[in-house]
Amino acid sequence: MTHAQPEPSAQTPPERAEYAFEGRTVVVTGGGSGIGRATAHAFADEGARVLVVGRRTEALAETARHRPNIRCYGADLSEPDAPAAVVAEAVREFGGIDVLVNNAARLRPEPLGRIDDLDARTELRVNLLAPLFLTQEALPRLEAAKGTVVNVSTAGIGRGWAGHSVYGAAKTALDFLTRTWAVELAPRGIRVVGIAPGPVDTPLAERAGLGPDEVARLRARQSARVPLGRVGQPEEVARWAVELARPEAAFTTGLVLPVDGGASAVF
Ligand SMILES: NC(=O)c1ccc[n+]([C@@H]2O[C@H](COP(=O)([O-])OP(=O)(O)OC[C@H]3O[C@@H](n4cnc5c(N)ncnc54)[C@H](OP(=O)(O)O)[C@@H]3O)[C@@H](O)[C@H]2O)c1
Repeated sequence: MTHAQPEPSAQTPPERAEYAFEGRTVVVTGGGSGIGRATAHAFADEGARVLVVGRRTEALAETARHRPNIRCYGADLSEPDAPAAVVAEAVREFGGIDVLVNNAARLRPEPLGRIDDLDARTELRVNLLAPLFLTQEALPRLEAAKGTVVNVSTAGIGRGWAGHSVYGAAKTALDFLTRTWAVELAPRGIRVVGIAPGPVDTPLAERAGLGPDEVARLRARQSARVPLGRVGQPEEVARWAVELARPEAAFTTGLVLPVDGGASAVF
């Protein structure tokens, strides 16, 4: 028995393939924890082959546990030769790159007067120059795939942010790169989008040196500032990396999407 297919119309959205990213390849930096791990899982669960990158190989292996379509690559993105090595590994493993998620970041808040030169340089390398050179290295692959770059920045950087000179400057510059590359790479068929998370429950604060009590107080303060009254979960951010990389988002580029519980809407 055959069934007549309904005519597509504005009322009937196209059906989404169960494995929308089957046959597509994704690189996620900082894939060993937090938003990066959730992003790797979200793409892998839609059929993508994913390469997760970070320094802690055991954390990457944990991300890949039970998901045979996730591969791991240990690299320190503060090293100048890391971007080329990451792209070479993705090509070796998968033959190309459809989606590059520049997610890895380092946060070492210090007020002006206490900023260490080496720390600042490392932070700029990981948070700004690694996305730049990774994207540059990946260009031929992204062009061949008509691919997408997703840059993870942060909400609230249009305003002053005491103690975050280096981190905020790098993320502000990353948003600039998102818009600039969107224009520059559109003729080559590459889309570039950004995600600007508000406060999210990840190990970032602990790794910046806060103890458990300080993290709890920070979360309470952050929740009070967010209109939705809570911090986000990594999966709530990861979802948008996937949505923006879908073929259905083909007319979207240069957008930096706040995923912040409404924080950026507050004056
Ligand atoms: N959590 C939040 O509230 C929040 C808010 C706004 C924006 N964000 C952004 O979200 C993204 C993910 O952060 P997260 O919150 O998920 O924190 P996270 O769990 O600490 O993730 C950061 C990742 O970056 C990797 N990384 C750091 N330095 C690296 C280096 N030198 N080389 C390679 N990888 C490096 C870390 O892995 P290794 O240590 O193993 O290398 C880690 O997996 C970042 O871009 C962050 O700025 C987070």
